[in-house]
Amino acid sequence: MKITFIGHGYVGLVTASVFADLGNTVWVIGHTKEKIENLKKGVIPIYEPGLEGIVKRNIKAKRILFTLDHKEAIPESSAVFIAVGTPPRENGEADLSSIFEVTKKLAPYLSGYTVVATKSTVPVGTNKKIKEIINQFKSQKADFDVASVPEFLREGQAISDTQSPDRVIIGTDSKKAEDLLIELHEPIGGKHILTTIETAEMIKYASNAFLATKISFANSIASLSEITGADGVGVLEAVGIDKRIGSSFLSPGAGFGGSCLPKDIKALLGIAKTSGYDFGLLKEVNKVNDQAIKGIVNKSKRLLDGNLENKTIAVLGLSFKPDTDDMRDAPSIVIINSLVKAGAKIKAYDPVAMKNAEKILKRITFSKDCYQAVEGADLLILLTEWNEFRQLDLVKIKKLMKKPNIVDGRNIYDPKKVKDLGFAYIGVGR
Ligand code: UDX
Repeated sequence: MKITFIGHGYVGLVTASVFADLGNTVWVIGHTKEKIENLKKGVIPIYEPGLEGIVKRNIKAKRILFTLDHKEAIPESSAVFIAVGTPPRENGEADLSSIFEVTKKLAPYLSGYTVVATKSTVPVGTNKKIKEIINQFKSQKADFDVASVPEFLREGQAISDTQSPDRVIIGTDSKKAEDLLIELHEPIGGKHILTTIETAEMIKYASNAFLATKISFANSIASLSEITGADGVGVLEAVGIDKRIGSSFLSPGAGFGGSCLPKDIKALLGIAKTSGYDFGLLKEVNKVNDQAIKGIVNKSKRLLDGNLENKTIAVLGLSFKPDTDDMRDAPSIVIINSLVKAGAKIKAYDPVAMKNAEKILKRITFSKDCYQAVEGADLLILLTEWNEFRQLDLVKIKKLMKKPNIVDGRNIYDPKKVKDLGFAYIGVGR
């Protein structure tokens, strides 16, 4: 099938590559000349394990094509996927200006029959508006249907998530569009959920909100366990074994971040507000997450006798989770800023996110590796569970540090082992 993706971020580029790899001819439309020229050479703008290989392979096979020009891609495409960003506005609501802008641009080039589908996370009612805009700007002969096909890929595992998703949501009120989208998604597998546009739009928000709720629940149990002397991690492991609950997204830690969970919660709260529904549960999920992030700063203070002034702190891990260079809404930003505000000197290290972090975190030093970061430090804080941090030479680390203190924001170290080595250690909920 010939298809087009508008947008080449995590969702657009990954999904386009996977569809190209399945034998489709896939156009990717961008709006920055430099990025498109780079993409044509296989230089990708994001860090995602496995993505560069798959892009290069499909460039060579001429199955993935990059362009700035709608005229080249849209007329011959059976489906056009909108995969541009929907960042939060000041008031938390999703900013849909890019969505509507690209819709206006693509509409005049539709030719024959085309399905215009959104991959971006958009509030209920957005696809209806997309339909209105297309009707206003398309040529008279062009025929189309709209659909909502939300994407559930996780950064760091984006390729495998796209190749074998748990479910494919196809929301449309047209049988013709439904059949075309089923055919396109056939080789991917996963349960097909055929539903209305509005339901599909809401499924994405509900999924992310529930994942965030699980994490905040885990962080609440962790906090309570710390006070009562229970082993919070053990409690959550036992709770997760119950099949009705499930063990994923129950790891307490330094809070959730990233480009989706925080933004989608704000947007869902915005949708609830405009609909006159008080989604108190979700407000609390946010509050608990803020506390989880602040909790790392409080624990740091505790280990440093309440005074961070002129203390050197090594921060290991900056991205919002491992296997990505994404710094959007990373808990490390809030944590580091408040440590710096309290007078601490930060030496940070992250395997891939430092380039992006440098643009955001101005008043800190970046180190070339973990060992350089901990040299002379009064405290080590671990914020992202990158694999390379799991088996550090802790004996060497202790020798290099000024004081052997660890705040383990992702619970990757064995508290007993670390304490036996002479460290003062605080994890989350243990
Ligand atoms: C999320 C959704 O999982 C995905 O389906 C959607 O398409 C986009 O948003 P992503 O943002 O890539 O994906 O990251 P995810 O793996 O969900 O993690 C989000 C945050 O939650 C990270 O900061 C992670 O550290 C944190 N987290 C996750 C926890 O604190 N505890 C957990 O148990 C799981």
